[in-house]
Amino acid sequence: MLYPIVKYGAAGLSTPARPVETMTPEIDRLIDDMFATMYAAPGIGLAAPQIGVPLRLAVIDLSVGKRDAELITLVNPEIVERDGLQVEDEGCLSVPGFTAAVARPGRVVVRALDRQGQPFTIEGTDLLARALQHEIDHLEGTLFIDRLRGVKRDLIVRKIRKLEKAGRW
Ligand code: NI
Repeated sequence: MLYPIVKYGAAGLSTPARPVETMTPEIDRLIDDMFATMYAAPGIGLAAPQIGVPLRLAVIDLSVGKRDAELITLVNPEIVERDGLQVEDEGCLSVPGFTAAVARPGRVVVRALDRQGQPFTIEGTDLLARALQHEIDHLEGTLFIDRLRGVKRDLIVRKIRKLEKAGRW
């Protein structure tokens, strides 16, 4: 099943999500639906709050469906190490049409559960580090535009308000 992706302004995008307590067939199904929704968008990452589900659950696939080995499912992820710095353009399926340069650590190590409920650790640099941080931010109720300096953020928010008023958001 494909879910509609909620956009900036939806309350669930600015609220911290709650941990997944047990892996159930429903959660497993939800993970499949999240991959399908992400590919349909298309995107390289999707967090459950973006489909209106307030759980600490995210999927990433930098290959956008081309290589199964690159599917990453993160249940209750946590960043346990971060270092370096990268500044790259970033976008988000919940903020369609906008990108901006965001400064983030260049390398992170994340601890999470996989879809079988087994703990694992993943290290990412460059784009993978960025995707991991972007999706984990969603679980904290933070969007990439919240990481911009005031003026740059305000400009995007003003444009979104105009689109909203015009009924195009
Ligand atoms: Ni996003």
